[in-house]
Amino acid sequence: MTQDNSPEKIKDAVKEKYGGLAEKQLAAAQRACCCGPAQSCCSGEAGLAESAANLYPTAQISDLPDSVTGIALGCGNPTAIAELQPGEIILDLGSGGGIDCFLAARQVGADGRVIGLDMTPKMLDLARANAKKQGLNNVEFQYGYIEDIPLPDDSVDVIISNCVINLSADKDAVFREAFRVLKPGGRLNVSDIVTQGDLPEIVVEHLSAWAGCVAGALDEEIYLEKMRRAGFASIEVINRKFYSSDMMAADDDLKKLAAEKNLSLADLDQKIASITLKAYKS
Ligand SMILES: C[S@@+](CC[C@H](N)C(=O)[O-])C[C@H]1O[C@@H](n2cnc3c(N)ncnc32)[C@H](O)[C@@H]1O
Repeated sequence: MTQDNSPEKIKDAVKEKYGGLAEKQLAAAQRACCCGPAQSCCSGEAGLAESAANLYPTAQISDLPDSVTGIALGCGNPTAIAELQPGEIILDLGSGGGIDCFLAARQVGADGRVIGLDMTPKMLDLARANAKKQGLNNVEFQYGYIEDIPLPDDSVDVIISNCVINLSADKDAVFREAFRVLKPGGRLNVSDIVTQGDLPEIVVEHLSAWAGCVAGALDEEIYLEKMRRAGFASIEVINRKFYSSDMMAADDDLKKLAAEKNLSLADLDQKIASITLKAYKS
């Protein structure tokens, strides 16, 4: 029986997965008040996301609360290449628990502004609680879809996004909207999952694999071509890191899917990569 993989079903599956992770982190943060530091809430459940300690230099994240670093769900470090300047307006597409927004907030300073956009209400609750905990007033979190960004044309200096666009069923709309809200000369700095060639049909069809950042990943060339078609120029892939089958086996959903469907994760070796790229609205 084939699954209903309509854009609405995909959004529901993604919201359910990330809402559940946010809820666990909120609960862990409450427990941490009386029982010691919160642990990462997500090991094994967070798709191909890596721990904050793997993604960010220690000096960059050492003073962030556990409730931020414990729910880093990215696959790169987009602010590291964004060259953010004091006073700039930054938009984070799919901000999750807010880690990249908080790193950006330091760089743009009191005269700058960071907007985190997310469609999962529990993630927004968590991100807002995390901002309050740090006393930040240059960061705000807005509810909305990256395919329909609730901001005016030409209003943002820099867009960042970490492991989110692969989750969208309409990547053309995401890039079109990103281009629309960027000011002329604005920059896009993205970390995301892409593939090299096609994945087995069994994986692509599976909603849990979509929510785990695998099934929705596009072939890298197709991804870059969609960006060009939206108008982005000077696109440069700065980093590319392939996932090994051992790393994929750490993803509970993928492991379960492989066991159910008799799929060898070794068949996916060197087929899925995390890339970090820059592009410009000229
Ligand atoms: C893999 S997590 C990444 C979170 C964050 N960028 C980080 O690095 O920790 C994906 C996030 O994107 C959000 N998201 C996914 N698809 C979205 C969409 N179409 N519109 C808005 N938010 C979306 C999810 O709710 C979730 O919080």
